[in-house]
Amino acid sequence: MRLDVITIFPEYLDPLRHALLGKAIERGALQVGVHDLRSWATDVHKSVDDSPFGGGPGMVMKPEVWGPALDDVAAGRAEGQELESSLPHLNKPRHDDIEGVAPTPYVESRPEEDKPLLIVPTPTGKPFTQADAREFAAEEHIVFACGRYEGIDQRVIDDAARTYRVREVSIGDYVLIGGEVAVLVIAEAVVRLIPGVLGNKRSHEEDSFSDGLLEGPSYTKPRQWRGLEVPEVLTSGNHALVDRWRREQSLKRTFERRPELLAKAELDAQDKAYLEELDNGD
Ligand code: ADE
Repeated sequence: MRLDVITIFPEYLDPLRHALLGKAIERGALQVGVHDLRSWATDVHKSVDDSPFGGGPGMVMKPEVWGPALDDVAAGRAEGQELESSLPHLNKPRHDDIEGVAPTPYVESRPEEDKPLLIVPTPTGKPFTQADAREFAAEEHIVFACGRYEGIDQRVIDDAARTYRVREVSIGDYVLIGGEVAVLVIAEAVVRLIPGVLGNKRSHEEDSFSDGLLEGPSYTKPRQWRGLEVPEVLTSGNHALVDRWRREQSLKRTFERRPELLAKAELDAQDKAYLEELDNGD
């Protein structure tokens, strides 16, 4: 997969070189280009924004700067900075790598499309979900356009639809200063799902949201810590009981924290009976 990010703060994207993404770059599963929007500015001040038509506070990012930037990045003729992994030592396998297991994609193939995907993070976009992350993980080339101030002139987004498949997405109902942190969030959620990057597909399948529920609590050694015990069932060696307990913990957490998710989750008769008990306060 190739990611290109256009931003006025290239250094904000440096975290993409670290940890799992750095490892993906190191392995050749990921390429990341970061492009300074100001290199497309044409005036002496390198300005990228102007006051809004119709008045009001803030500044709007200029179409004459964004248009050529998006054209050049789509065509692969933008120079930018190619991020290098911060982790040049990563030949050793992670604990969840499975040697000899062929990586399996979540989405087998996407519809024939030559246009790259353009993601524009904005608080006015559609909410980004785990389902989107899975879909984006099958892309070959994703370009991110980071807006600042009051956003980007809307004609840039409309015009980009000629060159790109455009998605305006929000990472939550709050307002950030700009799209850069949203890019970090989306890139991390997507790249960990690229086949072969995390190594273990099972760990994706058990993620929160993968089955429409939140994951329950996890424990490791020691069995007793500061007077607190690991739930006994987890050390019983009875896998069926462990699976049932985990399922109930997942239902309980979802019931308590995100009850609206239950309406869409796949629930069997046993799950429904357990939720009924929770609802009755048992
Ligand atoms: N830019 C500013 N706020 C944002 C949000 N909540 N999601 C995505 N991009 C943003």
